[in-house]
Amino acid sequence: MIVCSCNMITSQDVAEAVSALRTEDPLVVLTPGLIYRQLGKRPSCGSCLPLITELMVAYDQGGPSSSAPFPHRPPVENT
Ligand code: FES
Repeated sequence: MIVCSCNMITSQDVAEAVSALRTEDPLVVLTPGLIYRQLGKRPSCGSCLPLITELMVAYDQGGPSSSAPFPHRPPVENT
């Protein structure tokens, strides 16, 4: 599915960017700008940013529609 018509970015591109960024640095703070940079693109109109943010979070959490493998994330300690 195309999620950015200005740059022809697909949902699979977002999943692969999230996976690559997590592989490079498991503790990286993901942002839509980082996803664009990973894909070698720049936002134009910006209307896709909410959808890319939503997909980025879903893929990072390994949601049901996620097709990319994700490394284990450190557990959050309870206080
Ligand atoms: S739709 Fe993504 S920058 Fe325009």
